[in-house]
Amino acid sequence: MEAVGIMGEYQLYDITPERLGDELPLLLKTLDGFNCTIPHKQAVIPYLKDLAPSTRLYGAVNTVFNGHGHNTDGAGFAACGVDMEGRHVWVTGSGGVSRVLAMEAARAGAASIIVDARNQQSAKVLVNDVKAIGYNAIRTATTDEAEDLVADVILNGTPVGMWPNAGGLSVGMQRIHQAQAVFDTIYNPTATRLVLKAKSQGIPATGGLKMLFEQALAAQRIWNPTIDFDRASEQLSRIPYGLAREVLRQCPIKLLLTGFMGSGKSHIGQQVSLSMGGDLAFIDLDEVIAQRAGKNITQIFAAEGEAGFRDLERQCLLEQLHASGSAIIATGGGALVQPGAAEAVQAAGALVIYLDAPFATVMNRIGADTERPLLQSGLLQAKALYELRRPLYEEVADLTVQADQQANLIVETILSAFEWNHPQQ
Ligand code: S3P
Repeated sequence: MEAVGIMGEYQLYDITPERLGDELPLLLKTLDGFNCTIPHKQAVIPYLKDLAPSTRLYGAVNTVFNGHGHNTDGAGFAACGVDMEGRHVWVTGSGGVSRVLAMEAARAGAASIIVDARNQQSAKVLVNDVKAIGYNAIRTATTDEAEDLVADVILNGTPVGMWPNAGGLSVGMQRIHQAQAVFDTIYNPTATRLVLKAKSQGIPATGGLKMLFEQALAAQRIWNPTIDFDRASEQLSRIPYGLAREVLRQCPIKLLLTGFMGSGKSHIGQQVSLSMGGDLAFIDLDEVIAQRAGKNITQIFAAEGEAGFRDLERQCLLEQLHASGSAIIATGGGALVQPGAAEAVQAAGALVIYLDAPFATVMNRIGADTERPLLQSGLLQAKALYELRRPLYEEVADLTVQADQQANLIVETILSAFEWNHPQQ
């Protein structure tokens, strides 16, 4: 409203289902329009004068104007530009938003649609409803759906991976590998594990923040039919950035940087944190460990051996994972490849960024280091450790970033993955 100069007010009415019958008639009388969300999207229907065709398609109302019901979720998703024409589409979930995804895939001319949902009954209802609009190449997934079944486009409509359980992944890795496009309706975090894993493979992947913004814009267009929103496109384009930062402020997450010694974890972590102002603290796990022990890493190895160091490292990692607030944490090169570390990270809902640097690059940076205890046994040993760990880093990583490039480009890649890059930059 601010961007286009509308004098208006948009505020939250928190109404329980039991109070809807009493409160809705009053809202319909006093407000020009409103949005409604779960669990009211169907319950409002009997109170409305009539319904736009969009609401029949999705069986739900999210926008009301002068007593008329509309649904802008489909328009919001369509504006995200996921190309589905002639492609095999895999939809997870069968709730309200999965219905929007499946209907839009059918309308966009998908070659086929498979609905993969825990609730088989509602999945079947969804399949039948899509068939009812004249699209027949849709079915539910079988419980043991072949892993090699190629889905070109993955659309997630489940809450798997949503904050605070950001460790969740709604689709198997093999299916992600084969995809050509990924869309996740979740916008919190702004990049889910699904989105990050796809991006790491170079697959175009989008989180739900744009859909959230676009459905809101579509609602504003309904409420303000005479306003030219396109003339404010520049101001409007900055809104998702503000939203992304707000999501982080409201719902803190931990990002862990991993990678071999010398891959630049501390420097990149500091730079990302700096770009984010006060919204994302920087923590260096080795510094936390040294402080706890009252000695530096070399002294800990000397006094307690590697096993003693790993114990302390595990304790400090767990504490940081469960501390309050958002942070980007540079972990030591061995921290996340220890047994049980990946599971602890996932259980805490943290996301992992792997700085993948070639061996030659890390050796150039740290080859002459006389401090790092694990580098004191010579080049061959260091190379063996590097080779041993590489697949482990890849496995624990949600976002893999090539680290043999300029630091500002690495920072930019991380910020843009989470939609935290300032639109003017
Ligand atoms: C180690 C890496 C070091 C430090 C310790 C062990 C490793 O951190 O935690 O010397 O096992 O790779 P950096 O990766 O920050 O050098």
